[in-house]
Amino acid sequence: MTPHRLRLGVNIDHVATIRNARGGDHPDPVRAAEIVAAAGGDGITAHLREDRRHIRDGDLKRIQAATALPLNLEMAATEEMVEIALAHSPHAACIVPERREERTTEGGLDAAGQHNRLAPIVTRLADANIRVSLFIEPEARQIDAAIRLKAPVVEFHTGRYAHMLLAGDRVGAETELKRIADAAALAHKNGIEPHAGHGLTFDNVVPIAAIPQIAELNIGHYLIGEAIFIGLEESIRRMRMLMDEAR
Ligand code: PXP
Repeated sequence: MTPHRLRLGVNIDHVATIRNARGGDHPDPVRAAEIVAAAGGDGITAHLREDRRHIRDGDLKRIQAATALPLNLEMAATEEMVEIALAHSPHAACIVPERREERTTEGGLDAAGQHNRLAPIVTRLADANIRVSLFIEPEARQIDAAIRLKAPVVEFHTGRYAHMLLAGDRVGAETELKRIADAAALAHKNGIEPHAGHGLTFDNVVPIAAIPQIAELNIGHYLIGEAIFIGLEESIRRMRMLMDEAR
């Protein structure tokens, strides 16, 4: 297949993490959203966590008002979050597993095991014209579950791939990369748009970006961390360049 231009969604959660560390207004994730737009990002991704450790309810409307970029709301499959999503009408909602004690989203959603719980949520979001994505492991049984749930998008968790590279396990990382590539092909064949994200950096993004069926990457922690050294605009531009070169 001919690879399309790969979209970059920038997750701005950790701008809010730094803001919240001091309890004031600075740095403001809204300003980060404006920079994402100026730097050629294709979307803003924000995770409203149950404990509001970074993005807060009031940030969502402000982000939507400040930029024309589509908002991808990452959310747990709870009644509270569904109501917030319906009240804000983001372009997309990515359903993620969430445990209060975890530092970040540590594994994919068990869409296969939670079909009955997820089905009404996916339907309510889809009926409100919100593009539903399921954050899953790159596994055939999870893709089958996404097909049964009629999710238009899946996002593959790339954390394992990133972690294996960091640990120096090249063979393991290659195996994981193949799992992601096979899963992307399977999703695409079934009419589901594959995305990917978690743990992506300048050093590991290229092989993921080269997978032709993947339409979007969502990247946060590294871009915000790198922004401390080179600025947010430059951090996004470099990521964008690496992604474009991979295609
Ligand atoms: N995609 C999803 C669904 C996520 O939950 C996260 C982390 O919030 C990301 C992408 C971005 O991961 P990272 O911050 O490691 O780039």
